[in-house]
Amino acid sequence: MKTILITGGAGFIGSHVVRLFVNKYPDYKIINLDKLTYAGNLENIRDIEKKPNYEFVKGDIVDEAFVSELFKKYNFSGVIHLAAESHVDRSISNPTEFIFTNIIGTVNLLNAARAKWSENFNDKLFYHISTDEVYGSLGEEGLFTESSPYDPRSPYSASKASSDHLVRAWYHTFKLPVVLSNCSNNYGPNQFPEKLIPLAINNIKNMKQVPVYGKGENIRDWLFVEDHARAIDQIFHRGKAGETYNIGGINEWKNIDLIQLLCKIMDEKLKRNPGTSASLISFVKDRAGHDLRYAIDSSKLQKELSWAPSLQFEEGLAKTVDWYLENEAWMNNVMTGDYEKYYEKQYIKR
Ligand code: NAD
Ligand code: TYD
Repeated sequence: MKTILITGGAGFIGSHVVRLFVNKYPDYKIINLDKLTYAGNLENIRDIEKKPNYEFVKGDIVDEAFVSELFKKYNFSGVIHLAAESHVDRSISNPTEFIFTNIIGTVNLLNAARAKWSENFNDKLFYHISTDEVYGSLGEEGLFTESSPYDPRSPYSASKASSDHLVRAWYHTFKLPVVLSNCSNNYGPNQFPEKLIPLAINNIKNMKQVPVYGKGENIRDWLFVEDHARAIDQIFHRGKAGETYNIGGINEWKNIDLIQLLCKIMDEKLKRNPGTSASLISFVKDRAGHDLRYAIDSSKLQKELSWAPSLQFEEGLAKTVDWYLENEAWMNNVMTGDYEKYYEKQYIKR
């Protein structure tokens, strides 16, 4: 039986990856390591927590001694590393936490894997999950490829870029078998409502203003989270050590157009008069250093590992809206704690 460590498995994407692996690979033992920060929530994986091939460990990847002990206790043959501080706005208000978790935390895992595997790297793999934001901001034209130069602009993307470089350094210098993927914006169930789509759904539902930064002209390439989890499965099992794979939705949307579409779906689902939800749109002060456009060329992944996104955006968005409307208790639960305070101070109306 293989033992696989998944970090950040109580978070948004991690919970979908843990669920996929626990259900699809009963002969793997999945250890989910998560600190349960504001973004980590065991509710996200309630349905699989009693499965015999699953175990949860609460811990902090920044704690070097803890990480090292964990690797001594378990015989991991693979690591899928998702744990991170993940929100750009928080990285602007509190960058230091991003440096600790995203950089030091990653180095602790790399060191522990290297020490445990002690040069016997057969059938071992360290898979680092990253973002397209490391490539910086695109103009109107072009797509990010695996060879696009790194040009991170926010503390979040700079911390992820650092971790990517470190992972590659451990491959080249110490021969640690690593693989990386850089993915575009995800959406779907279980995403914390600080990110655009769940924040907008929740505000529209509660007839609160929907803050659109600047003129709403920034563009993101959206991918349904389960499609990302499927890509991670393919890359973990069939990706080549030392390689990087870009993952994207082939699905670019201007923020304002996305919000308009969401308002239309919400009016229909909530049986409101057309235009009711759109009346909540509120243009607010732009994010500092706001990247204009992200868009991914995922042809390497499509050609080499036969992956493709499975959902049309309208379908994925409708599915996502249904999930949030049906899971009010989840929303109320994650909205407690520091979130309300954080949210209130963020938006300055223009
Ligand atoms: P998330 O914020 O929803 O979840 C992060 C998880 O990591 C949480 O469960 C949290 O408790 C845990 N965590 C944070 N600090 C930790 C620490 N010090 N020790 C242990 N656990 C810790 O994030 P997400 O959106 O699911 O993103 C997961 C990964 O995917 C991140 O590495 C992120 O950079 C990457 N990514 C995200 C997106 C996206 O659109 N959300 C796109 C591309 C890549
Ligand atoms: P976000 O979900 O924070 O993801 P990222 O910054 O990692 O791309 O934001 C997506 C886009 O939506 C980004 O251009 C910023 C914008 N945005 C808003 O206009 N209003 C909001 O309230 C939020 C959270 C984001």
